[in-house]
Amino acid sequence: MKAFVAGATGETGRRIVTELVARNIPVRALVRDIDKARSILPPNVELVQGDVLEAATLATALGDSTVVLCATGAKPSLDPTGPYKVDLEGTKNLIDAAKGKEIEHFVLVTSLCTSQFFHPLNLFWLILVWKKQAEEYLQKSGLTYTIVRPGGLKNEDNSDAVIMQSADTLSEGSIPRQKVAIVCVEALTEPSARNKIVEIVAKPEAAPKPFGELFAGVA
Ligand SMILES: NC(=O)c1ccc[n+]([C@@H]2O[C@H](COP(=O)([O-])OP(=O)(O)OC[C@H]3O[C@@H](n4cnc5c(N)ncnc54)[C@H](OP(=O)(O)O)[C@@H]3O)[C@@H](O)[C@H]2O)c1
Repeated sequence: MKAFVAGATGETGRRIVTELVARNIPVRALVRDIDKARSILPPNVELVQGDVLEAATLATALGDSTVVLCATGAKPSLDPTGPYKVDLEGTKNLIDAAKGKEIEHFVLVTSLCTSQFFHPLNLFWLILVWKKQAEEYLQKSGLTYTIVRPGGLKNEDNSDAVIMQSADTLSEGSIPRQKVAIVCVEALTEPSARNKIVEIVAKPEAAPKPFGELFAGVA
């Protein structure tokens, strides 16, 4: 297995990269700024300079990767096209490139509540709408996928247990980015994670369960 990570310099993406490296899975990281990436990511990661908006470059960027993990996301800004471009068009470009390269598994990080149009997060230029359309594009792509919808992301890890549920059953809660990264990496090898949407949060009162059981419990 060789893992291609898009959004690798992001707060979640960098944790995905570190988790893959810790499991001795070779990583090819798509980054916009090589110097920034060098200062953030472990040294034994292959860096590819690129942008998900540049569709024609992505097949080459994927190289000999066999799986893809996408944790890109538009940063809050005054540009009303930001989420449309990054969270929809960019992700579609990556899905198309992955199809061309017969990628074995595509893990996409989106968000809780992507199905809720009247959600405050959509005040950020309809970001949930575009994420939902990207999810649907992946589901129809023919690729094997896992869509990971986390609650509010936190940089600090904690000892809370992960709660994993089916699409559109969780609407609040938070989760450390480290746990999101682990769920994404577990999805690559867990047969019951295939072709599912999983919603995740973490709670202190939840009973810890093995990932196989968590994924298997999702319809
Ligand atoms: N914040 C929350 O509470 C929350 C909750 C649920 C879901 N989410 C979603 O979870 C995902 C990860 O969130 P995060 O806060 O960890 O992300 P983040 O730190 O904002 O990182 C986003 C990454 O996307 C990259 N990116 C943006 N535009 C790109 C482009 N055109 N081409 C290539 N890469 C591009 C950024 O690159 P640079 O490093 O070069 O800027 C960065 O690496 C996002 O989709 C986010 O919307 C967030």
